[in-house]
Amino acid sequence: MRIIIIGFGVIGRGLAKVLYKKREFLRKNYGDFNVVAIADRSGAIIGEDIDLKRAIEVKEKSGKIINYPGIEKSSLEVIKDVDADVVVEVTPSNLDTGEPARTHIIESFKHGKHVVTANKGPLALYFKELMETAKRYNKIFKFEASVGGAMPIINLAKETLAGNKIISIRGILNGTTNYILTKMEEGLDFETVLKEAKELGIAETNPYQDISGLDTAAKIVILANAIMGLNKTIKDVKVRGIEKITPEALFLANKRGYTIKLIGEIVNGYLIVEPKLIPINSPLNVKGTLNVAMFETDLAKEVVVVGRGAGAEETASAILSDLISIKKMIENES
Ligand code: HSE
Repeated sequence: MRIIIIGFGVIGRGLAKVLYKKREFLRKNYGDFNVVAIADRSGAIIGEDIDLKRAIEVKEKSGKIINYPGIEKSSLEVIKDVDADVVVEVTPSNLDTGEPARTHIIESFKHGKHVVTANKGPLALYFKELMETAKRYNKIFKFEASVGGAMPIINLAKETLAGNKIISIRGILNGTTNYILTKMEEGLDFETVLKEAKELGIAETNPYQDISGLDTAAKIVILANAIMGLNKTIKDVKVRGIEKITPEALFLANKRGYTIKLIGEIVNGYLIVEPKLIPINSPLNVKGTLNVAMFETDLAKEVVVVGRGAGAEETASAILSDLISIKKMIENES
C-alpha cells in the first residue's frame, strides 16, 4: 500500500517510526506499507525509497523536511500529484477552522485517495461534509486516532459492538486534564502540573484547548456523529473546563469518597463536558494521562475501555490499525 503522510510533527513522525520499526512484521503479516511522500510546511520528500529514519532525524534536527533534501511542493500539490492509495492527514488540529486538514482531506478524496486522520478539528466542525465527500468519491475514511489515542473506541463501537444500540457514552477523553487533576489530588498546584503535562508532550500546542474542555468537546462530537449517527458540531456542546478546580476541592471530594474528573458525555442526544464528582471506586476513576470510556448498550450492557489517550507511538497504533483495515478492505474488493 502506498502512503502519503501530510504533517510531520509528533504524530507523523511517530507513524513513520512505527512503519520503519515494524517493516518486517507488517510485511510478513499484512504486506508492504510504503511511504511514498512526506509533506510539511517547508516542502516535501517524494520517492519510492524514502529513508524514514533519515527523514525523522532531519525533521527533529532542523524542523524542516525540505532539508532531507526534499523539494518545494505544497501539501495540496503532493496530494494531487503523487500516486498513492492513502493519505494520512496529521497536521496540527485547529478547532476554530478545521484547516488546513479539512481541505487536505477533501482534496485527497477528489484525487482518488482513501484517508486516515488523527485530526480532531475537521471532524468536530465538518463531519457531515467529510463523510458525504468520502461517499461521493467512493473512498474509505477512518479516524480511530482522533479520539482516545491508542484506546480502541470508534472501531470498538462500530465493529465489536455492532448490532448493539449505544445508549450513552461517558468518559475521560483528555489526558492532559486528567494528569493535572491526578497530580493536584496529590497536592501539587495547577501551574506546576500544567508545565509537567506540556513537558510530557501530551498537551495541545495551545493547552487552553485541554484546560477549557474544548479538546474533550471535539472528541465527544466525533463519537456522537461516528457512533451514534448524530449530526453535531462543537457548537452543540455545553462545555465547562477545569480552570476552577482547586486542590482543596479535590481534598474535600476525597474525604467524602469521591474524586473530580473532567467528564465528556453523550446522553439522550445532549453533549456535555464538565468536571463531575466520581465515586473513588468507579471504573471512570483512572489516573494520570489515561483515558477511559464507558458505553451503555442494549445488549452488551456496560462496556468500559481504558487506554493511553495521547503520545506518538500510542496514536500511531490507532493510525496503523486503520491503515491495516483499509489494506484488507482494498484487497477484498479486488
Ligand atoms: N491534548 C490531548 C490530550 C492529546 O491531552 O488528551 C490527545 O488528543
